Amino acid sequence: MGKLAVLASGSGSNFQAICEALTPGPHVVVGLLCDQPDAQVLNRAKALNVPSALVPYDGSTDRSRQVAERRMELILRKWRPDIIALAGFMRVLSPAFVGGFSRRIVNIHPSLLPNYRGLNAIRRSYEANEAMVGITVHFVDHGVDTGEIIRQEALARREGETLTELETRMHELEHRTYPEVIQSLLGESDGQSGEDGAV
Ligand code: GRF
Repeated sequence: MGKLAVLASGSGSNFQAICEALTPGPHVVVGLLCDQPDAQVLNRAKALNVPSALVPYDGSTDRSRQVAERRMELILRKWRPDIIALAGFMRVLSPAFVGGFSRRIVNIHPSLLPNYRGLNAIRRSYEANEAMVGITVHFVDHGVDTGEIIRQEALARREGETLTELETRMHELEHRTYPEVIQSLLGESDGQSGEDGAV
């Protein structure tokens, strides 16, 4: 049985897709960490009976990040996840935090990286009239959307497609792909966090 923790800040549709895909077992979602008190993802966690913890950042200074990350580390130490999945987590994790979970933190980004790193990737690729768009699941390193790519899936832009229609198709692709990658990683890392795990 592999254990997954999720970090999210917003709607949480990917969080929900992951939870539903993992429900038959053997892997489990041990908890959700969220930095936004009003995020819809907290309601989803409650409805899905997944433990959650709110870890507000109290601003965007290095100090507030340090405090929040320390709190997350303490919680993660209890949950002992094998893999940590970022699912719309809108904070940049510090090199120290990422270094503590080497090759165990993954992220999903709605572009074919290295294109369109950062915010509003779907809108920017749509406005640039890209013929091919897509999603990337990657390990998290010290940069923003720069870590080693695990899997990419592309979509051909449809004639006359609106931004909203494209966004819907991109999210559907995310909801199919991210749980598959996570299940595979959990299978590979099964039991790694053990009693003496680094978390
Ligand atoms: C997704 O598009 C994901 O690729 C990006 O943030 C969005 C999160 O959406 N990193 P949701 O909160 O999972 O609905």
